[in-house]
Amino acid sequence: MKVDAERLWARVEELGAIGATADGGVSRIGYSAEETAAMERVGRWMTSAGLGVHYDPAGNLIGRRAGQRRKTIVLGSHLDTVPNGGRFDGALGVLAALEAVETLLEAGTSHEHSIEIIAFRDEEGACFGRGLVGSRLASGTFNLAAWSDARSIDGRTIRHVLAAAGLDLERAVSEAPREPSSLAAYLELHIEQGEVLESGGKRLGVVSGIVGITRYQVRFMGRADHAGATPMNLRRDALLCAAGFVQLVGAQARAAGRGLVATVGRLLVDPNIANVIPGRVVASFEVRALESEQIKSVVEAVIVATEELGRKHDIEVVFERTVQTAPLLTTPHVIHALESACTALEVPFQVMPSGGGHDAMLMGTIAPFGMLFVPSRRGISHAPDEYTAPDDCALGAQVLLDTLILLDKGSS
Ligand code: CO
Repeated sequence: MKVDAERLWARVEELGAIGATADGGVSRIGYSAEETAAMERVGRWMTSAGLGVHYDPAGNLIGRRAGQRRKTIVLGSHLDTVPNGGRFDGALGVLAALEAVETLLEAGTSHEHSIEIIAFRDEEGACFGRGLVGSRLASGTFNLAAWSDARSIDGRTIRHVLAAAGLDLERAVSEAPREPSSLAAYLELHIEQGEVLESGGKRLGVVSGIVGITRYQVRFMGRADHAGATPMNLRRDALLCAAGFVQLVGAQARAAGRGLVATVGRLLVDPNIANVIPGRVVASFEVRALESEQIKSVVEAVIVATEELGRKHDIEVVFERTVQTAPLLTTPHVIHALESACTALEVPFQVMPSGGGHDAMLMGTIAPFGMLFVPSRRGISHAPDEYTAPDDCALGAQVLLDTLILLDKGSS
């Protein structure tokens, strides 16, 4: 059974026209008219492929074909984009899933499990500044209280945004969650959004897990004095101390190895004036890895060394944790099915962590799950230049199909 590479590519292009921007990108913000239009287009393709199509109370698009067994295998991703994003992030996962299932149904192959394709709403968070809305609701992990103060870019609450899309928030919270015992597996194909595959000459990535993220806000407090009148030995330069901190974050992360990454992505320098010594710096600091213990030991080492640095520079340093999500490992038998499918096709693949969160991160809390990465040209994503070659799109869809068949025959 072979997927139709041309049909898949034609749909990537057709879907990319919905919300297309002047410079070749795509803007389909979660719960916008463009996202809805994309859902309607994909819904029509699902119907013509022979799937029953409906929307769940969160507005997620679902195409379903029932099987004999009680449990469902779900393939999913999202159709929204960041503003002026690319044509592949999310969309390719949905279209590859459709290509896989359509090929299976066209061949008249019977399947034992029910099969669903879900296009989740608002994964990117461009609407509310925090994402995964559709998969939060579908996985039952949506926290109503935590979202009470969330406002969309035009100042509306999530209740209003959903109402404008014909949805009821309370109903979505109570009725969208899927019953974990009804799910056999969740599978998601996604673009890599990095260049590990391309630089390593690999065609596909089998995801070993989604990294946990620990993030801090770090404040360096010194004194803003005159840059000419204050000799070096009398200064309390917060930026000088922060610079040392940035260096040691990089050094600690490199020393930790095993896929751990750490970043200082944001520095606010106050007063940020050429002839004033920086009196105050606020920095972000985050660590990502597949092992909680590894994250913890790097964070602790950085805090101890930075406090030491603070004493040396006479700077008060305060670490405040703002984000902590646990790593989530993919399910061994799903990884095994993905690897078997790659091996049977003689595809060079790599087992690798996912450095970003995806809908799979939440569906993986209620179902056995796995993810497949296809290469991103030069690692570019969330930009008009985002690109995955047609051959790679088709190969990904093929492995998705072969994996779906292997999982369908499995025991769960
Ligand atoms: Co995505």
